[in-house]
Amino acid sequence: MLNSITFPLSQTAAELAPFRVMKILGEAKALQAQGRDIIHMEIGEPDFPSPDCVAEAAYQATKQGLTHYTPSLGLPALRQKLAEFYGYFYHAEVNPKQIVITPGSSSALQLVLTALLNPGDKVLMPDPTYPCNRQFVHLLHAQSVAVPVDEHSHYQLTLSLLEKHWQPQVRLVMVASPANPTGTLIEAQELQAMAHFLAARGAYLLVDEIYQGLVYQRPAESLLADKTLPKNVIVINSFSKFFGMTGWRLGWCVVPSALVEVLDRLAQNLYLSAPTPSQYGALAVLEPNALVELEERRQQFQARRDRLYQAMQQAGFAPKILPQGAFYLYWDISRWSQDSETFCRQLLLQQGVALTPGTDFGLQQGHTHVRLAYTNDRIEEAVERIAAFLASLS
Ligand SMILES: Cc1ncc(COP(=O)(O)O)c(C=O)c1O
Repeated sequence: MLNSITFPLSQTAAELAPFRVMKILGEAKALQAQGRDIIHMEIGEPDFPSPDCVAEAAYQATKQGLTHYTPSLGLPALRQKLAEFYGYFYHAEVNPKQIVITPGSSSALQLVLTALLNPGDKVLMPDPTYPCNRQFVHLLHAQSVAVPVDEHSHYQLTLSLLEKHWQPQVRLVMVASPANPTGTLIEAQELQAMAHFLAARGAYLLVDEIYQGLVYQRPAESLLADKTLPKNVIVINSFSKFFGMTGWRLGWCVVPSALVEVLDRLAQNLYLSAPTPSQYGALAVLEPNALVELEERRQQFQARRDRLYQAMQQAGFAPKILPQGAFYLYWDISRWSQDSETFCRQLLLQQGVALTPGTDFGLQQGHTHVRLAYTNDRIEEAVERIAAFLASLS
């Protein structure tokens, strides 16, 4: 009798899609454990360690007993320092009271979506997009509407795409600049036009700027520098990528004043506060001398981007566009395969290069695209191995 009783999961949890890159990473590590030489180009985090000042400041804070919860909105000193950072880094005037510190930008995304979405509401996003966004929307019983984008719009949403795909149930549009998996930007003017279009329809624009700082051949830019923005713009950011602090789990969002109180209540209930030692570490990484080190790293990523693009070009499989930021390149493999998951698995097994199948980022073109992350310096070697794999397919 007892054996026949089942303990079901919630429907939303049962339907939650896995993050396929974690599966590839697991397979790559298993091969490595067997002694295979693997070049990791699947990993979406900087290969550099966090700047030393982060660990030092976190250690000093813990030694002084600063290991308790902070206010749910974050340490006031950190909110203040971030507001100053917006001033000198992005030339943007930001009120510290509108900054909410979160455990990674993942939590900022969840806070904001929970504050805004009712079951059945729709959220427009590009396809390809950061995979977790679709899942966050799904967990709230809302519906994501994936708009196919291609190289003609730099794999980004535009005002004209918004006009074309607009539906009255849309409550929010989510974009990222630079984006994951494409590394492409949306120009500020386009974002401003999109924000005004949505404001007139009572919808929000969420701009994920987590890869800002890691932009190449142009200055870093935040939409918040625009003083004429309507009050429907939410900006997400993080200490993970530009600051190289993925494991410290610290991010933030800048929201219209009207949302701060509800985000505070949500944070109090969902996680109480972001990790305290990480917040003290973040205070140190916002000092000007740490920024010098981060700028050197940015230049190394830019050099890697150029090396990867050139090596692919010389090997005869040039990507359609040169990414402008982040550390990703999105590559159309339709000449060789219509099944990116099998392509990635065979490439890993035969040549020991780990890439991420496009299916992680959207299904409309995911089967014919893969993501290469230049979070590894063995770039020319990786391209040689990929070329050998492609030759074996023809
Ligand atoms: C576009 C984008 N947004 C948000 C995140 C979440 O990062 P974190 O929670 O480490 O800040 C990621 C992680 O890869 C990402 O690529």
